[in-house]
Amino acid sequence: MKRTNGAMRTQVGIVGAGPAGLLLSHLLALRGIDSVVVENRSRAYCEARQRAGVLEDGTVRLLRESGLAGRLDREGLEHGGIYLQFDRERHHIDFRALTGGRTVTVYAQTEIVKDLIAQRLVDGGVVHFEVSDTVVDQLTSDRPMLRYTDADGKKQEITCDVIAGCDGFHGICRPAIPAELRTVREREYPYSWLGILADVPPSTDELIYAHHRRGFALHSLRSLTVSRLYLQVDPDESIDNWPEQRIWDELARRFDLPGSGWELKRGPVIYKGITPMRSFVSAPMRYGRLFLAGDAAHIVPPTGAKGLNLAMADVDVLAPALEALLKGDEGLADSYSAACLGRVWRATHFSWWMTTMLHRTPGADEMETELQLSQLRYVVSSRAAATSLAENYTGYPPRLPDSFRYPDSL
Ligand code: FAD
Ligand code: DHB
Repeated sequence: MKRTNGAMRTQVGIVGAGPAGLLLSHLLALRGIDSVVVENRSRAYCEARQRAGVLEDGTVRLLRESGLAGRLDREGLEHGGIYLQFDRERHHIDFRALTGGRTVTVYAQTEIVKDLIAQRLVDGGVVHFEVSDTVVDQLTSDRPMLRYTDADGKKQEITCDVIAGCDGFHGICRPAIPAELRTVREREYPYSWLGILADVPPSTDELIYAHHRRGFALHSLRSLTVSRLYLQVDPDESIDNWPEQRIWDELARRFDLPGSGWELKRGPVIYKGITPMRSFVSAPMRYGRLFLAGDAAHIVPPTGAKGLNLAMADVDVLAPALEALLKGDEGLADSYSAACLGRVWRATHFSWWMTTMLHRTPGADEMETELQLSQLRYVVSSRAAATSLAENYTGYPPRLPDSFRYPDSL
């Protein structure tokens, strides 16, 4: 960032210090491009926000190639599959065997955000936390403006070449695109997830996705001593109705495997929260000199563990596109939206498929339950069906060679 007579100037103004905004700032810095990140929350809040935990193969590779995987390589837990549980049986889906060795890595989003913030600060990057009143303006000019009030209450204005809207689903960048130029596809699901973090070693070596007549449950983890578990609950459910004892009792019921000797270990709950479930895609992901990335442009229900991975994949495409744009070549910037939306729609379908196969729809009849069970039996008994799940879960399409572009018509 440059300051001349009080006026601030940067090449790329980035709204949002989530995984998308921070990684983009880093990838641009590797290309010698200057950026400023503005974030309306505090650093501590961003680093503690409990969200994702599963990284695709390609995401790990991207973080490694860009020099961000030191702690991830030491502390991340590589998983070669998941369990699908239904009808009181637990079946293993072996990703390594089905995909020629591909895996996922359990490493919390909180840790990725900590790593990214630390790296930006070590590298002299500029991240302004606790800003308010963020506004993006003059987006169709070649000098878009980023305005905000800083943490000390002073109004600031940065002249940019490009603005990246990485400000999540509730941000201000997507609404800055005229509504008539946006196509929105959206679906809300009639259930939410109640998620807990518990100070107890996981009761499983790999994630368990459980279909149950009382509703879906997921057993994930954060480390060998901390478990992350989720329960399907009604969309209007209040967290106050769920004391620890009730949460553990319900989890134990949904993961129960009679006669197996398996038991769910219980421990102190250190965090609990409820998340709504939605599929949402807004296209195109570009308006003039504004580029959207991550949850600002698209949301998936969490069942396929895709949201964070999509956010990282977007900025992996965006960084070289902005580098070329700043040198006067608009080609990659023009195809940015189409390049991302191919992957976004694949993940949107996969997340919808996992979600509807595993959750109980309130009011649904026995027909729906039988159809879900038939699909689940097919996935665990057909190599073709299991391979499809494994390929999508570990990341499909795999990161593409630079020469590959989706057709613009997508
Ligand atoms: P965000 O992380 O939302 O970051 C946006 C940032 O912009 C925020 O810091 C916000 O404070 C800031 N901001 C907003 N408005 C403004 C403004 N006006 N001015 C300045 N700053 C602003 N994904 C996976 O891949 N795997 C998983 O296992 C997984 N599990 C999940 C489980 C749960 C319970 C939830 C809720 C999500 C899960 N996800 C998962 C999704 C994943 O967390 C998101 O997709 C990811 O956070 C998207 O990153 P982002 O940077 O695009 O947006
Ligand atoms: C986690 C979240 C998910 O949505 C998922 O599908 C798997 C794991 C997690 O938070 O660990």
